[in-house]
Amino acid sequence: MECGISGLTRSLLYRIEKVAQQAVTPISIRDMMRHAKACAVSRTGEGAGTEALVRAANWIQRELPVRLAHRLYDFNRLPYVVTGNEHIHRVYSMYADAFEKISGVGNVRDERAEAHFARTLARLVSEHAEVTSLMQKGVVELRASYPDIALDRFLDRLFNTRIGNRLISEHYLAVREDHFRDLEALKADPPSSPPSSTPSSSPSRPSPSSRPSDDDAVDPERPYVGIIHQQFRPAPLIQAVADRVSQIGIWVYGRSPQFELEGDLDLSFSFIPEHVKFILFEIMKNSMRATVENHLRKFPNSDCFDESIPKVRVRLHKGHYDVMVKVSDEGGGMESNLLKNIWRYGYTTVGHQRTHDSSQCTSTHHQHNHNHNHQQPSPSFLNPLNGTVPPGAAGEAAHGSPVGGLVTPKEVGGYGFGLPLSRLYCRYFGGDLNIHSVAGYGTDTYILLNRLGDQRENELMLNYWHGLVSYHPVSTKGRANIPVPLTAEHHQHPDIGPPDLRGDTESSHAPFQSSRQHGLAQGPRYWINGSRGDTFEHQSTPLDGFAAEEDLTPYVDGTATGQGGIYSSQ
Ligand SMILES: Nc1ncnc2c1ncn2[C@@H]1O[C@H](COP(=O)(O)OP(=O)(O)OP(=O)(O)O)[C@@H](O)[C@H]1O
Ligand SMILES: [Mg+2]
Repeated sequence: MECGISGLTRSLLYRIEKVAQQAVTPISIRDMMRHAKACAVSRTGEGAGTEALVRAANWIQRELPVRLAHRLYDFNRLPYVVTGNEHIHRVYSMYADAFEKISGVGNVRDERAEAHFARTLARLVSEHAEVTSLMQKGVVELRASYPDIALDRFLDRLFNTRIGNRLISEHYLAVREDHFRDLEALKADPPSSPPSSTPSSSPSRPSPSSRPSDDDAVDPERPYVGIIHQQFRPAPLIQAVADRVSQIGIWVYGRSPQFELEGDLDLSFSFIPEHVKFILFEIMKNSMRATVENHLRKFPNSDCFDESIPKVRVRLHKGHYDVMVKVSDEGGGMESNLLKNIWRYGYTTVGHQRTHDSSQCTSTHHQHNHNHNHQQPSPSFLNPLNGTVPPGAAGEAAHGSPVGGLVTPKEVGGYGFGLPLSRLYCRYFGGDLNIHSVAGYGTDTYILLNRLGDQRENELMLNYWHGLVSYHPVSTKGRANIPVPLTAEHHQHPDIGPPDLRGDTESSHAPFQSSRQHGLAQGPRYWINGSRGDTFEHQSTPLDGFAAEEDLTPYVDGTATGQGGIYSSQ
């Protein structure tokens, strides 16, 4: 029997509820590298790594449902108007479907089961590619009807889990691909025959047999371990992203600032390049847009060959624990009322102002550039996420749409997802993203990436008892990720604090009706009283050391008493 708007059966809701009681097991980049090494095919044929592959598949088969269940648990508590949105509901159904399919595979005990699991996982990875664009559409639609709807913490957790799920899945699939390719190569060129060239034909990833441990030298021919580049150099990537962003500027506005790269250009570290690519692209795109629009505001009649557009400076440095990329622009900065909103999903100023009519300028500029052997970007290139999609993000969205008849540079921005998503990527493995803006002058954006690979995934965001602890962004060893108990002021802070699904906690907020009122699953819940008399939920899993007992007030309203299972409210 299907329950309420969820469309899920009772038994599925019950299973989700049960699995959501389990905590996620966070992993680090180093863990991922170790795992890849264990799955390596030895060139001698011994210890082929297949057992490790089966073990890895088995772990993922158990881990992913837990992660999915936490987010499904969140979905179940969303206000009706949110889950009623067709795009968001679609994502909800996709998550439930993934939960069912992965759980349905059962334990992975042998090679056959591993192959079946890998096929299921690969299908899901490709099916879920559209999740981000669906959420973007859903959020834009919801905000149009309910501008103040508070969804940011839900979206943070959803996208955080998405980054992790795709990371784990794509890493495993990449490691697996290498494993079987090298196994084939080993068969064709067995150890008894004289040594020949590297077993694999792919230059992109290292042969598992030659995959080094953390301390080993890296084979420059094959620097990848799964999806991790062991000697990732950000400088060439920054340059490539700068070129791409400049081309978009020229295409949209007929001009672009120059990007100037300085600092430790040779530095390298083990990281996931696709994540960095996504972050750089979003930040540099913002700087380009601000710089050009600010310049056009000041000099509306400037021509396309105006050389006076201020440069965007990108500095690259290595700290003890972090790699820092600082992007500095003179794009006019942000006023405080804008600044306080920039981390909100869906907040954008694109379309709020008329942008330069680039058509004439663009063609003239292209002519000019043509003479200088610049290539006009193709339309597909202009999708800002095209080709820059990190494993955890969806790049399938075309950005923006004309708003109110104004010229909207949809290639430049538009959904208001760039900054919040980039910050999630930075924080995922213990880095951070900070913005310092001087209204009337410009903006400095600090991208911090943990270069030691020792920080585990942001556990607090992955688990479901999120409400009790706030995120404390840290990227240095000396300051480990420390959850801090919530205090009254956290409730007022826009960025930390309880889940903001206020429709779920305050039924008086029509039309933010709780899914509870629609017969959805409810588990045992507790509520913590906030300073404004509002409450937020905490599941029954204890958080030793982080919450004083007296902070927890059992929630009793005749529906959930903290005792029952998912049907306690019915
Ligand atoms: N460097 C900057 N200078 C001035 N304003 C900025 C800068 N970076 C961001 N902003 C402001 O913050 C808003 C939100 O940025 P964000 O990147 O999240 O979304 P967007 O650029 O509008 O759309 P999207 O990134 O999804 O294409 C922007 O619309 C812009 O007003
Ligand atoms: Mg942006």
